[in-house]
Amino acid sequence: MPTPERVQAIADAFRRRYGVEPRIVRAPGRVNLIGEHTDYNDGFVLPVAIDRDVMIAFAPRGDRTVRLYSLNFAQESAFSLDRIELDRTAPWSNYVRGVAWSLQEKGATLCGVDAVIEGDVPVAAGLSSSAAIEVATARTFQALGGVSLTETQLALSCQRAENRFVGVNCGIMDQFISTLGRRGHALLIDCRSLEYRLVSLGGAPLRVVVADTTVRRGLVDSEYNARRSQCEQAVATLRQYLPGTTALRDVSLDDLARFRAALDTAAGPLVARRAEHVVGENARTVEGAAALERGDLARFGQLMNDSHRSLRDLYEVSCPELDALVEAAWSAEGVYGARMTGAGFGGCTVALVQPDAVPAFVEHVGRQYRRRTGRQAAVYDCEIVDGAGPVVPSPLAPLPTGRGDRNKGSP
Ligand code: GLA
Repeated sequence: MPTPERVQAIADAFRRRYGVEPRIVRAPGRVNLIGEHTDYNDGFVLPVAIDRDVMIAFAPRGDRTVRLYSLNFAQESAFSLDRIELDRTAPWSNYVRGVAWSLQEKGATLCGVDAVIEGDVPVAAGLSSSAAIEVATARTFQALGGVSLTETQLALSCQRAENRFVGVNCGIMDQFISTLGRRGHALLIDCRSLEYRLVSLGGAPLRVVVADTTVRRGLVDSEYNARRSQCEQAVATLRQYLPGTTALRDVSLDDLARFRAALDTAAGPLVARRAEHVVGENARTVEGAAALERGDLARFGQLMNDSHRSLRDLYEVSCPELDALVEAAWSAEGVYGARMTGAGFGGCTVALVQPDAVPAFVEHVGRQYRRRTGRQAAVYDCEIVDGAGPVVPSPLAPLPTGRGDRNKGSP
């Protein structure tokens, strides 16, 4: 949950701008424990929602205008629900615009809204600040009525906003965990059926520690799309040997062992390596969830380490800074496992650490990373929190019938 100070600050900012009492919703960022680059292959992921979030303070309007103010960017952006377009001068607002567009496309009846947005998910760090703003937006419109979607449909609407409005070809993991995350649990999500299983971490002696390389590579989008199409190429080839294969999810480790040479010849060694990562990562994720469920943290840690090596060597989405942070984590005391997390090419690593070992871990990793890269890592010892919801539960204010004072001066 956001600190009382943050809640107070956003409520005050809202009152100053719009002169009425807001309601507030929040949606968390996430960190993925294992199952990387598997979601768009219909595979498995194991993320947790973390105590870094985006809040939206809002009140309904009597018209079709959406007025937004970002506290982080100290910038306003407004649009009409009847004509939703990208705002290139306020890119942060495009996630809100996209979700409004996506919900309406699916038949939701939205009303105008005045809103203030604030977040503490680091932007472009691979902790899903964009999913958090999308899901908070969906929750805002849902709270105002006219949106009758299940939780899963809500997450899908947010993904569609990002794919088709913002133009980023992401999978479903980030929006799903931000919507459906559960305190003290990871979610084993089947990204094909969208069924999920809660995996309790509450009783385990561990902390989820995220370390940010502070490197942001422009490459992420183009390389992400390249990986997706290499996976599709692998499927197209393997389908000849394994009829009925529609995604790498359908390919087992045994299948791959049998047809690896054929894949290598037909599609080339690069595509074969990409497939090897995805098939192995799916198996690691399913095994990892079972290991956590029986309390085998040592095994889970090994699987995390294997995941990192596979992302580095086979999928080739790591970078020297991510490798430096992970290797620093591997050499620290009291660490079960560590890996890069998210799309890669910069961003964050995740480590599972024994609670007592966290202070020394933070110190050790910071020092090693500075020594190897000259950079300062940002380290977050994360709580595992619930998915999106209200911050200050308060009864729904009646929709104004006309244009009140607070709507004066709207664009
Ligand atoms: C990004 C995408 C996700 C997922 C990860 C890689 O975070 O948004 O859908 O593909 O990369 O696992």
